[in-house]
Amino acid sequence: MAAKFEPVLTRNVGKPEALTLKGYRQLGGYEGLAKALTMEPDAVIDEVKKSGLRGRGGAGFPAGMKWSFIPKGKDKPKYLVCNADESEPGTFKDRLLMENDPHQLIEGCAICCFAVSAATCYIYIRGEYTKSAVILERALKEAYDAGILGDNVLGSGFKLNMYVHRGAGAYICGEETGMLESLEGKRGQPRVKPPFPAVVGAFGAPTVINNVETLCNVPHIITRGADWFKSIGTDEKNTGPKLYAISGHVDRPGTYEHPIGITFREMLDAAGGMWHGRQLKAFIPGGASAPILKPDQIDLKMDFDTVAKAGSMLGSAAVIVMDETTCMVRSVARLSKFFNHESCGQCTPCREGTNWMELVLDRLEHGEGTERDSQLLLSICKNIGGQSLCALGDAAIGPVKSLVDRFPEEIEQHVRNRACPFPRPRYFENGA
Ligand SMILES: Cc1cc2nc3c(=O)[nH]c(=O)nc-3n(C[C@H](O)[C@H](O)[C@H](O)COP(=O)(O)O)c2cc1C
Repeated sequence: MAAKFEPVLTRNVGKPEALTLKGYRQLGGYEGLAKALTMEPDAVIDEVKKSGLRGRGGAGFPAGMKWSFIPKGKDKPKYLVCNADESEPGTFKDRLLMENDPHQLIEGCAICCFAVSAATCYIYIRGEYTKSAVILERALKEAYDAGILGDNVLGSGFKLNMYVHRGAGAYICGEETGMLESLEGKRGQPRVKPPFPAVVGAFGAPTVINNVETLCNVPHIITRGADWFKSIGTDEKNTGPKLYAISGHVDRPGTYEHPIGITFREMLDAAGGMWHGRQLKAFIPGGASAPILKPDQIDLKMDFDTVAKAGSMLGSAAVIVMDETTCMVRSVARLSKFFNHESCGQCTPCREGTNWMELVLDRLEHGEGTERDSQLLLSICKNIGGQSLCALGDAAIGPVKSLVDRFPEEIEQHVRNRACPFPRPRYFENGA
């Protein structure tokens, strides 16, 4: 790993001039788009493929490969939908990019549109992100006025329209096909796949869906080259800079940019270490859906493949740190409440299973559990895993399975004591 890492995606954070088109251009902005427009669209796709860039929204799918799935024919329009829904608990990285450097995202979207010949881009943004939406709208207007968007992008003859589309605050609308339904004005319920969005996406037409952070990497890959991008990271399959949103019992929670593959220990140190010098008990490496890890994984490299090998996932790289005062049963019960609330109810395993998991965990936490509850939880997980229409079901079982597998003694303690052995923070007193 390089000794000194210069931020790439967040280099303009804290520079208010980046919020204006003039300032962004003075900082080197839109050079990537100008360069891309001189290339063949396929050469742009090849460069992104070569860089090894993997999606930063959760699944880690190679971005260039996804773009290459878009059919070449002209019989249907093509779309890019940028996923700015950012609703995974613990995740707050895309907001930083949109609030501080909106043109970086617009530039990344424009390059992607050029590469796949899409004339329309929607930035689907989480309903609660009012500030980000206002900033993006303002930046879009400036880009239109300067001829960066519209009928003749930078005088190249390429036509591109870009819109901000605001969601209404549902986690399921971050799932790519739920998002497409919502974009089309329908209830945000995931579609059966296949067909995949690259073939039948928005309004029945081929569509690329990429996360905000994924697209923000693109201008840098085009200006600095795939080899530069590949020089950052763990290996050929885990490349580039990465944003990690770190929260919980750390001294300085926040969004940090590191080379992908930094160890959890290094990341924790960069965030000021454990809050009040307390002991690390557990951490979630990739948002609420990721199985929980224990301190024996403190030297884990935080990249897609290494975290997967350790039995969890990098997901959205939302790192939630828990100290020795944390009740694991209560934490997982709280996550299950979230998934139950956010399940769209369309398919039975997820609708019923997330409800059962919340009920069983809630009774365990309140001292009403039985010795059979661990097995019962695993059996519910089995009935959801791989059986639900979208990945929300699999997401919901990640923390529950890891609680049973990795913290069995804590469940036993709750059953034996007929009460939660941990102090109950005041904010739980209103019944949460
Ligand atoms: C329940 C659920 C919620 C999701 N929420 C988000 C989200 O808020 N933002 C996001 O980028 N991806 C989210 N995803 C992943 C998207 O479905 C999709 O994989 C991603 O937007 C693709 O972009 P990428 O390849 O650039 O990562 C979610 C997936 C699921 C199953």
